Formats: sequence, C-alpha cells, structure tokens
Amino acid sequence: MRLLITGVSGMLGHALIRLASEEHEAWGSYKFHPVSFPQGQTFAMDLVDETQVKERVMSLRPEAIVHAAALTGVDECEKDPLLANRINVQATKSLARMAGELGAGFIYISTDYVFDGSKGDYAETDTPSPISVYGTSKLLGEEAVRASCPRALVIRTSIFGFNIQNKAGAVEYVLKSLRRGEPITRFADQFATPIYTGDLSRLILELLARGSEGVFHVSGGEKVSRYTFALKVADVFSLSREMIRPVPFKHLEGLAKRPRDSSLSGEKVERHLEMQLPKVEEGLGRLRKDLNFIERSPHPSLSPFKGRGIR
Ligand SMILES: NC(=O)c1ccc[n+]([C@@H]2O[C@H](COP(=O)([O-])OP(=O)(O)OC[C@H]3O[C@@H](n4cnc5c(N)ncnc54)[C@H](OP(=O)(O)O)[C@@H]3O)[C@@H](O)[C@H]2O)c1
Repeated sequence: MRLLITGVSGMLGHALIRLASEEHEAWGSYKFHPVSFPQGQTFAMDLVDETQVKERVMSLRPEAIVHAAALTGVDECEKDPLLANRINVQATKSLARMAGELGAGFIYISTDYVFDGSKGDYAETDTPSPISVYGTSKLLGEEAVRASCPRALVIRTSIFGFNIQNKAGAVEYVLKSLRRGEPITRFADQFATPIYTGDLSRLILELLARGSEGVFHVSGGEKVSRYTFALKVADVFSLSREMIRPVPFKHLEGLAKRPRDSSLSGEKVERHLEMQLPKVEEGLGRLRKDLNFIERSPHPSLSPFKGRGIR
C-alpha cells in the first residue's frame, strides 16, 4: 500500500515509518527537522500551506494517510491558540478533505487529553471535555476528520518513546536525570495509560490492514501514575530508584492545565484485534532493545537516533 505518514521527525512518526516501510511503500513528511530512514522516503511539507500540501498529496496519491503531525506542546498551544488551531484543526481538516477526494483511508492520531481527567478509564462512548487549548484543538481535529472522511479511523492514545529531535520525553528525562544523579519529583496521583510508540505503530498498521473505522482508544494495558512510571523506567534500565520522589498532583503556575486521570480503557481495541494491550514494562523493555539496536547499527541514516543518553 502507498502510505503517507505526517510528522515522521516526531516521536511517534519516526517509529511508525520505520515499521511501515518494512511492508508498505511509505512516504513521510516533516516540517523543520529533515530525517531519513533505511527505507521510506521523506520530504519537507508545511501542513498549514494548503497549496503545497495539495500539490504533494495529489501527485503522491496515497492509498492511506496516517496523520501524526501536530503542535504537541501543551503549553505552546495554550500560549498560541491561533497556531494550535491552524495546525491541529485547519490543516487536519484540509488533509482529511484531500484524503476524501482521493478515496484514501485516513487515520488521525488523537490524544487522551480530549478528556478532563476527572474520571479516568475513559471508554470511546464517554464524552470528551478538554481542559486545555491542546486538548480542544485535537478534539476539533477529530470532528473535522469525521466530517470530511466519515470512514476515518481516530486513534486516541498516550505515548512514550524517544526523540530524534533535541527534546526530552518522559523516559529520556528520567534516564538523563538519574544518570546525572539529579533528584526528580513525579506526581504520585496523576494517571495515564501510556504505550510505547513501537507497540502503537504495530497496532496502527494492524488496524489499517483490517480497514478499521471509527474511534479507538489504543493505549497501554496498564494505568500508572507519573511516579510509578518513573520507577519502572529506573527498573528496566537498571538504575537506582532512590532519586525519584513522589509528590501530590497540582496544576503548575503559568502552565496549561493537564488532566489528573486521563487513563483510557482499551477494551474495544482488545476485543477488535483479539489481543491484550502491552504493560508498561513490556514496552520499556522493547524501547531499550530498539535503542541498543540503533546504537550498534552502522547505517548512516540511523545516526540521528544515536546518543540519546540511553543504553
Ligand atoms: N507526545 C505525547 O505524549 C502524545 C500523547 C497522545 C497523543 N499524541 C499525538 O500523537 C501524535 C504524535 O505526537 P508526537 O509526540 O510524536 O509529536 P512530536 O514529537 O511533537 O512531533 C510533531 C511532528 O509534527 C510535525 N509538525 C508540527 N507542525 C507541523 C507543520 N506545521 N507542518 C508539518 N509538520 C508539522 C513535526 O515536524 P518538525 O519536527 O519537522 O517540525 C514533527 O514531525 C500527535 O498527533 C499528538 O497529538 C502525542
């Protein structure tokens, strides 16, 4: 299948194109951070430039588009709601419309932040009620996708992985701090159900292969607090837990609000695919293995992935 993946310089996008290119003709787009892969072709495309996007998409004629690109900085979105709207809503709407015109499949990657976090264990039937500009923009993106492509697949998730850009996700932050001997605090009562980007990529491709439609919660099979997650990172990477301190959840001054419990119920996707979603340790184990493989690989295109401070 000819597949276009947006956001391949991002944490999820790079994992997805590496896996997708094993069995598909995979094309990937980025905005600022050029990236290449052993297989899979990549190009720069600013999603807010509708003319440029239309030219690219119409000449490529993908059979399916996985839209993983977004303005993901929760605080950045709060500070610049107009930009959040342009990227996460308007650009999503026009890309979905193009997929509709081509008769291509459309997979939209959404987030657990569409929920307010007051309840947790959210099912697909629960009503979203975002408390941040980011969450609102992703929800409006979902609605735009459904309006343009009624048969689209919307995947709500919460992820962990590693970055090729110079920024630290949750795992990298814990590892770097512990390796430097710096103490860290993590909320003991803020919960989510994170899934490793490598595992999510496999499930996205499985749902695509089955032609699945509608909303699916595709997250990890285990609800953990930020504190418990950090402990598990320390365990899997054989580091001491000593420097990790639990603190009570609170909204941080000057930052966007985050949900207290945005855990997702994955029952629907588990029934649909007849499998069990992976536990945090399983995902972390695979992340560690993937990083070891990348560190050892002589392939030049994998050099940007190296030196993430993780072994
Ligand atoms: N990170 C999380 O914890 C999380 C949780 C739940 C859901 N999600 C969703 O999962 C998806 C992937 O997230 P992620 O964390 O992997 O993203 P990320 O690492 O922040 O990467 C974002 C990607 O989007 C691209 N992008 C941003 N603005 C663009 C624009 N105007 N035109 C074209 N490309 C643009 C970036 O390209 P450049 O790098 O080249 O600028 C990058 O490839 C997103 O849809 C996000 O909402 C993320």
